[in-house]
Amino acid sequence: MNPPQQSNVAWWSANPMTYDWEKHIQAQEGSLEFFQESDRRALEAHRPFGHPAYPDEPAYSRLIPWPEVRDKRVLEIGCGMGLHASLHSAAGAKITTIDLTWRAVHTARRRFNLGNQRVNTLRTDGEKLPFRDNSFDRVWSWGVIHHSSNTAALVREIHRVLKPGGLFQFMVYHRHSVRYWIIGGVQHGILHGKLLRMNLEQVNQTFTDGAIARHYTAGEMPALLQGFTQPRCRILQETGSDAMPKISPLLRRLAPDFSRRFDQWVNDRWGWFLFVETNKEADSPA
Ligand SMILES: C[S@@+](CC[C@H](N)C(=O)[O-])C[C@H]1O[C@@H](n2cnc3c(N)ncnc32)[C@H](O)[C@@H]1O
Repeated sequence: MNPPQQSNVAWWSANPMTYDWEKHIQAQEGSLEFFQESDRRALEAHRPFGHPAYPDEPAYSRLIPWPEVRDKRVLEIGCGMGLHASLHSAAGAKITTIDLTWRAVHTARRRFNLGNQRVNTLRTDGEKLPFRDNSFDRVWSWGVIHHSSNTAALVREIHRVLKPGGLFQFMVYHRHSVRYWIIGGVQHGILHGKLLRMNLEQVNQTFTDGAIARHYTAGEMPALLQGFTQPRCRILQETGSDAMPKISPLLRRLAPDFSRRFDQWVNDRWGWFLFVETNKEADSPA
């Protein structure tokens, strides 16, 4: 394994994805209480994409049309604590999930055992997948490929293992976002003086998760996704942070109705998540 990927293993082994970097979960990792708390955090952060509290909109149903995954062979890259693989399994997918770290794989396996779910769970690097060409109908990856040592190599592997016409859905961090330019550039870069010592990408890395975290624009997707169809991109924002620092809290006090529309308008354009869907070209060689 190359040194940047070793740094990734070390980082994610020490900081598994529990959706709150400050308030560590008290329950023992792998216990039912642990998964309940970790899921509560994840589903609250991702409420705008569908939430179990709304029967018409199950979790992530604005991104994943759940009836379509039934009986499909789905590969997830980067399972973390296993929530998304578990949801795919509950929807009837034949799901295989992988992660770089043993910590994620062991914890996710405990979740699947607790829920009596059959999920093929492997510790492996997405940049070197141990699967045959053209073996999956869909690949799902949420918040992972921008952290890998070589994102382009990871995308080539996903292309190889997807069947022709197969769907690749993923989320990466969005560069043209309030978080990157205003919080990273203005707040950390200029006001905290970090831009005197490093470039803007490095400034953003100082307060972003992972040993590596790249940011992408929708315009960069076609070059990254060689052999895939024209990518369909959506800009998303999780809950829990203001759309605009200073302005959003002020507007909430002065004009609550207008502030909701303003936040939505900002988040739809400059949110921090870039969600991409694309298909492997039907006549593309593995
Ligand atoms: C931000 S967490 C996301 C976890 C999960 N997808 C979620 O949304 O909760 C990133 C995960 O990706 C894993 N990861 C990073 N690079 C990877 C790679 N090349 N292959 C497999 N897993 C990787 C990390 O170990 C970590 O568990």
